[in-house]
Formats: sequence, structure tokens, C-alpha cells
Amino acid sequence: MILPIYLYGHPVLRKISPDITPDFPGLKDLVENMKATMYASDGIGIAAPQVGVNARIVYIDASVLADTFPELAESKYVLINPHIEVLEDGEKISREEGCLSLPGIHEPVSRIEKIRINYVDEQFQPHEEIVSGYLARVMQHECDHLDALLFIDHLSPIRKQLIKGKLNSILKGKVKCDYRTKGYKNNK
Ligand code: NI
Repeated sequence: MILPIYLYGHPVLRKISPDITPDFPGLKDLVENMKATMYASDGIGIAAPQVGVNARIVYIDASVLADTFPELAESKYVLINPHIEVLEDGEKISREEGCLSLPGIHEPVSRIEKIRINYVDEQFQPHEEIVSGYLARVMQHECDHLDALLFIDHLSPIRKQLIKGKLNSILKGKVKCDYRTKGYKNNK
């Protein structure tokens, strides 16, 4: 089932999402719905708060970008209870990011593209991986959602000022979107 994407301004995006246990109600359906919703909106990653659920779940499939970033060829992940440690020996790289919850906004974000990620899969088997390149960026972006952060929080005060008008349009529900959304005001 395709779910509406919750937009910037909705309080669910500003709540920390806790770890879940295997008995989390409707977990399998939620993961399937997150996948369907992400593909329907042409995203490369989606976090549960973006469909209105404060639970530590992320789905990523960035393989559509594999021509540009070969490390994304194998980038399908269901991440449950992911926790990231940024490996400080990495180099900060600035690349443009967007977000389904921030339609029409694309800004360069500076991140270290080398991380260690711990998570469990859908069978709650634990995994630990060292990830680098664009995939590490996507994972950080999605896990930020679980920690109540948005990519615009990483922008400089000047860049933030420059996108203020666009942010206000989203808050007012005056944003055009090809996918179903749920905003703070428009509730549609
Ligand atoms: Ni996002």
C-alpha cells in the first residue's frame, strides 16, 4: 500500500524514533508499505517517520544511481534499529541531497562518507558493516530522520536563509508534489 509522505513541518519528523522489537505490530506490512511508497515517489531511501511512524526502520534502494556511483549497485537494505558511527578518518565531501519530506529543495550537504553501521535485518539478525561513498551518505541521511534530523539542519545559516521561502511554502501546504503527502497544515 502506498502511504502519504509526511512533509517538513509535521511533528512526527522531529521526534526521535526508538529501537523496535520483533513483536512490533504490523512490522512486515510497514516495511512492504515503505518500499511501495518509496518507489512510487522515486526516492532512493525512506525512513519510517516519513510515513508517520516513529520507529527505527529504514529502507534504501539507490541502485538507480549506480551508473554514477558504482558502490550503489548493491544498495538494497532494510535497516532495522540502525546505528551509525561516523569514522573520523574519512574526508568531508559536499554533495547535493534532496528529501521526499522536503519537495523542491536540493542543497549541497557536507558529510564524511565513511561510516560503521550496526543494524538488524528483518529476521533480527545483527549486522555490522563499514560503508563508504554515496551509500554511506544515503544511510546517514536516512538515519538522521530516525534521530529527528533533516538534511537542512546541516546547512550553513546563509544557505538556510536562502531556502526559507521554499520551507515556508511547504509549511503552508503550497507545494506541488507528484506523490501523496501529509503536511502540518494541508493534511491531505
Ligand atoms: Ni529524507
